[in-house]
Amino acid sequence: MTGANESSRLLVRGIAQLASPAGTHAPLRERSLGEVDVLEDAYVLCEDGLVAAVGPMRELPKLDGDVEDLDARGMCAIPGLVDCHTHACFGGDRVEEFSLRAAGAGYEELHAAGGGILSTVRATREAGHEGLREAVRRHRGWMLAAGTTTFEAKSGYGLDREHEIASLEAIRDEGGIATFLGPHAVPPELDDADEYVDFLLAEVVPEAARVAEAADVFVERGAFDVEQARRYLWACGEAGLVLRLHGDQFTELGAVPLAVEIGARSVDHLEATGEAGISILAASGVVGVLLPASALFLDRPMPQARSMVEAGAAIALATDFNPGSSFCESLPIVCSLACTQLHLSPAEALSACTVNAAYVLGRADRAGRVAPGYTADLVLLDAPDWRYLPYHLAGPVVGAVVQGGRVAWRR
Ligand code: NIG
Ligand code: FE
Repeated sequence: MTGANESSRLLVRGIAQLASPAGTHAPLRERSLGEVDVLEDAYVLCEDGLVAAVGPMRELPKLDGDVEDLDARGMCAIPGLVDCHTHACFGGDRVEEFSLRAAGAGYEELHAAGGGILSTVRATREAGHEGLREAVRRHRGWMLAAGTTTFEAKSGYGLDREHEIASLEAIRDEGGIATFLGPHAVPPELDDADEYVDFLLAEVVPEAARVAEAADVFVERGAFDVEQARRYLWACGEAGLVLRLHGDQFTELGAVPLAVEIGARSVDHLEATGEAGISILAASGVVGVLLPASALFLDRPMPQARSMVEAGAAIALATDFNPGSSFCESLPIVCSLACTQLHLSPAEALSACTVNAAYVLGRADRAGRVAPGYTADLVLLDAPDWRYLPYHLAGPVVGAVVQGGRVAWRR
């Protein structure tokens, strides 16, 4: 998302608490993951889309010329949230499947029967290029209202050349960071995963690499195995894409060692990752992206986040927003789940969906903190303490969102 307002100034004044992850490093691990600087009665001055200055109100310099004022008395501020894992480009919905699951049907079972992801593939192909753009625009609006100012979204519901590329273009054109997830499922017109990987490498990756920043693959039984993922990711790396994987969602098939071997930026899900996988992850530069809304939505075990942090792994949090396994675009809710289900502290949760998520997206130098030189993205919380972000479960905590130095959303 961009929203830089050229040659403009916005002064956010009287912020009860300004909370931003400490330091300048990324990704944050261990103790530093939980270190958040809190400044009371603060101001943030935004200039030309960037943070120009931050400080206590009593040190606010006299400002000459035009400055728009935003009174934040009684509110707290945090960095604009960064959602580093969504599937926000899709047609249709899965409300029928949701009802079936509520009555006991299994997610993998529905997929194996040609429903699940494949039903969204049918709806996505029917949506048309403009329909896909509209879908991303609508979903982006929901995310913004929940405090997300930077979002990633994956293709993966087109599964043919035309609709994979159209999905990536819709994401990019609507301000998202596009990830090519061609190998999300084997398309209905093919029955062999190897044949589909061959097709993707020959026919889609070269063009996808011009639109997307990263490549992703769903490593799972019934989807793609480690050998197929290695072949695909290796070629995507050659094409200049950052590498990511969906791994250990239901079964530990070796996605974590593969992520380390190929130098992936992240391995995402990790609900099924055991002790050995956690050690391998912790000793690597790969970020574990945790998606507790997805585990909750599917009634699956939560990832072992506490063990990962204690072992020294870098973790990030994201929504996994999609129509099937996580119809939830709210990072504040994800932060609540992180504290109550993953046993992270509010500060660890905040760092994980700001600095560390920005790192996953290659933007830690400009997103994820409220500090001079960073993009002026901030969330104003309608709360007396910034920790209401996770504390007020599904509450109306987001009061306003500043994006690129202008007010992009207000309650
Ligand atoms: O990350 N697990 C694979 N892909 C998505 C879900 C896709 C869907 O159900 O439509 C996920 O959970
Ligand atoms: Fe996902």
